[in-house]
Amino acid sequence: MSKEEAILQIDDKKYKLPLVRGVENECGIDIRNLRAQTGCVTFDSGFANTGACESTITYIDGEKGILRYRGIPIEELAKHSRFIEVAYLLIWGELPTATQLAHFSELLTDNATLHENLKSHFEGFPWSAHPMAMLSAMINALGCYHPDLGEPECHEELMAVAARIISKVRTIAAFSYKMSRGEPFIYPSPTRRYVSNLLHMMFSVPHQEYDAIPEVSRALDMVFMLHADHEQNCSTSTVRMVASAGANLFSSVSAGVCALWGHLHGGANMEVIRMLERIHKGGTSIKACVEMAKDKKGDFRLMGFGHRVYKNYDPRARLLKQACDNLFAKIDYEDPLLDIARELEDAALNDPYFAERNLYPNVDFYSGIILRSIRIPTNMFTVLFAIGRLPGWIAHWREVNEDQSTRIARPRQIYTGYNERAYVPIEKRGLE
Ligand code: SDX
Repeated sequence: MSKEEAILQIDDKKYKLPLVRGVENECGIDIRNLRAQTGCVTFDSGFANTGACESTITYIDGEKGILRYRGIPIEELAKHSRFIEVAYLLIWGELPTATQLAHFSELLTDNATLHENLKSHFEGFPWSAHPMAMLSAMINALGCYHPDLGEPECHEELMAVAARIISKVRTIAAFSYKMSRGEPFIYPSPTRRYVSNLLHMMFSVPHQEYDAIPEVSRALDMVFMLHADHEQNCSTSTVRMVASAGANLFSSVSAGVCALWGHLHGGANMEVIRMLERIHKGGTSIKACVEMAKDKKGDFRLMGFGHRVYKNYDPRARLLKQACDNLFAKIDYEDPLLDIARELEDAALNDPYFAERNLYPNVDFYSGIILRSIRIPTNMFTVLFAIGRLPGWIAHWREVNEDQSTRIARPRQIYTGYNERAYVPIEKRGLE
């Protein structure tokens, strides 16, 4: 067997399947002709063993806890970069020059406001509507105001629509927060940077502006940067699947928001805080949480723990844990949930159940504690995850549309229902 092919034997027949290799020497068995050759399909529910595409955007080594955006280690970017620069890197593949970054920032500033008619959409939601439901709906509504930009065909058009989505989704998030509190919308300021403008729109009130201190803006910028992309996660794969059908960028991103909302995915950051609050209020204990998470009879899981790819410490969790310490020291803030989180992490990492399954804290375990410390309400956590993930979704939408080999995503199945059977007239049903 040559090193670049696999041999598959079914009954007494052998089939040669080519191997595909990534630049980090990952190996994939190319099964694009498997069914034509063998009549068989593969079976891999949850796609844990299935590569859906080739991608140049993000590289993860789950065993080693490595994460790189366009080849640059996340630790380097966390130290030297900012969210908007990372957004540019992910979407266009290279770190921007000073001129390119200034142009992109200017486009974000120029496109921060919403069409006045869009504001009236908020009146159609009940005040208790979940911000993720509003976000997904409003992104498609936003697309109605830019029908010419949904399918960008050149660099300038992609720059224009990326700036509109990254900037206006931030305004939509702030407006949905204000709507839930019955407070007047606060418009974006043309003189504020991306993150401080969001906090201004969320926390300023008429005649009393909110100015986030630099440490708070930096912490939220870090949260966005660490969430900006994560290769073929559930929501990004959703964006790619919808994009493969030829859907425009707004509807593809809106679909990504819906997938991210799931409590096993982006919704986990809210569940982590709820779990830590239950422990803090005495509703449960750290030991009980760990034991419940191990109990197969229940469906409780240690939220913020475990990952499909990382079988080592999620590098983002490590950076967020450090960011908690840095921020809390600077703003002289204490949160008992941070101490509980550390104790819970320690208890789990020292428990054989978690060690045997390589279950470590993931990005959601500490992100909520930072967001809490800067007054973000729990039900907005996943909205902020979505804002952070926008550049990654836009980058993957672009990659699907520019890849000449893209085919509409349409997985096969193993059918386990009825064999053929006759129609039963209604008068004879329930008689057998
Ligand atoms: C994100 O894919 C991405 O990149 C996602 C993300 C991104 O940036 O886009 O990183 C963001 O979604 C992070 C994950 C957030 N979700 C949570 O924190 C929810 C809690 N975690 C789990 O539900 C779980 O770990 C998943 C969903 C994250 C991963 O699920 P898998 O890969 O399907 O893992 P699995 O169910 O096959 O688990 C393997 C074993 C099982 O036990 P056994 O059957 O071997 O006995 O580990 C157990 C699981 O029961 N397990 C857990 C656990 N996670 C896995 N047991 C207790 N608590 C947990 N958290």
